[in-house]
Amino acid sequence: MRILFVGDVFATPGMKAAMSFIADRREDHDLVVVNGENAAGGFGITRRHFEQLIGAGADVVTLGNHSFDQGETLEMLEESTRLLRPANLPVGTPGAGHSVVHTRSGERVVVVQVLGRIFMDPVDDPFRTMDEVLELAPPDVPVVVDFHAEATSEKKVMLHHLAGRVALLIGTHTHVQTADETVYKGTAYITDVGMTGVQGSSIGMRYEDVFHRLVTKLPRRYRPAEGQATVCAVSVEISGTRAASIQRLWAPQPRDSAVEAGGS
Ligand SMILES: [Fe+2]
Ligand SMILES: [Fe+2]
Repeated sequence: MRILFVGDVFATPGMKAAMSFIADRREDHDLVVVNGENAAGGFGITRRHFEQLIGAGADVVTLGNHSFDQGETLEMLEESTRLLRPANLPVGTPGAGHSVVHTRSGERVVVVQVLGRIFMDPVDDPFRTMDEVLELAPPDVPVVVDFHAEATSEKKVMLHHLAGRVALLIGTHTHVQTADETVYKGTAYITDVGMTGVQGSSIGMRYEDVFHRLVTKLPRRYRPAEGQATVCAVSVEISGTRAASIQRLWAPQPRDSAVEAGGS
């Protein structure tokens, strides 16, 4: 089984790039997981963006700390098991943080997202949450984890905690791809898969808007950067419940993608 994981899709340039990239590689993969927390101009995801990603060939879309930036996402989370918010949010939060999905060939895979707690808003313990999810997970089914976290140290400790217990542990949220992909005790790992968006930016936003806020402390609306987007992803080969190999992908996309994406 081969799984494609696409990193945080950021605004319209990221959507265009992601859709074209996924459509091109859909046939080579049994399951496609996409982090879509920044699809809507950097802030969450709308129904249109979600449907476009699914239409392009994504099987599951994960979110993150921007899960609820768009009001309609609450309803979407109740409607679809293909859209996941973090599992370690307070009891009673709408939607699910993990689900069992089927690949095209009918094999089952567990997909889960957890949020980190270092330099982020307080949430439940992601390590204990993962233990609980794995206890509930059907045996002999590969597990894909999106660990949406800021701190490298926390991500590496999660690798220590989950090595040999999950097939993929993919870091998201920091938007800068790291070059440390590895397979450790059967777990494919990367500290951060990177952002699918305009790399010449402040993690997706225009430099000048972020600079203004940093040097003046005055509020200014952040606008997504425009231009050519690069897809950041990993492709992982799975044997049974263990990863056999991980390939890190950095794929600049043509500026005028043939696939139309929704506005930001
Ligand atoms: Fe993100
Ligand atoms: Fe995030």
